[in-house]
Amino acid sequence: MIQSKLLPVTGLLVITSACASFGLAAEDMIARRQTDMKAMAVAAKTMADMFRDPASYSSAQFRNAAATIAARSGDVLAGHFASGLDDPKSKAKPEIGAERERFDRLADDLRDYAGALEAAAVENAGPMTDGMRMRPGEAMGGGPLGTHVRNEAALSSIPAEHVFHLMLQTCTTCHARFRMR
Ligand code: HEC
Repeated sequence: MIQSKLLPVTGLLVITSACASFGLAAEDMIARRQTDMKAMAVAAKTMADMFRDPASYSSAQFRNAAATIAARSGDVLAGHFASGLDDPKSKAKPEIGAERERFDRLADDLRDYAGALEAAAVENAGPMTDGMRMRPGEAMGGGPLGTHVRNEAALSSIPAEHVFHLMLQTCTTCHARFRMR
């Protein structure tokens, strides 16, 4: 009895998740990715505010913000640009099609940075620690690590604030190349 009630629900879930990316009409895909981008901007601002005023730091809220970005980056982000690249409602540049690998790599970088920030929030459950802050004179971006810190161990060894700036650079780099002004 229970099973027969559950089955249709399960079927529905399967259909819904199949639609998550490929089944979306271009118009829905554009709306979805723009909504996701806005949510990521809000999340990034939440984190920026906490670095600006460390007393306002909340591990749970910081983690939530990082998770918001992690869940909307990587394959999810890349998948939402599978179509709708030449649409007046979208500011996505058609170059995304020709430079798919580069675009996807930026989406993955974003996911890696957001994941590292999520981990930092878990590790720093109390107040914001000095270990999360950038050290004075620390090279930002460039430096020996560059903007592509692919290695998780390397990522966890640099302060969260630095990772945060690398993450913002990823937003900026992608927009400069793939978003219309
Ligand atoms: C891999 C590329 C890429 C990355 C990384 C990326 N974006 Fe975007 N973003 C785009 C593109 C392309 C658009 C235009 C989308 C459209 O109009 O269809 C966009 C649009 C936006 C918009 C405008 C949404 C709207 O229509 O109102 C905001 C805000 C935004 N991004 C914020 C961010 C933030 C914050 C980050 C980093 C945390 C980020 N993006 C990371 C590619 C990217």
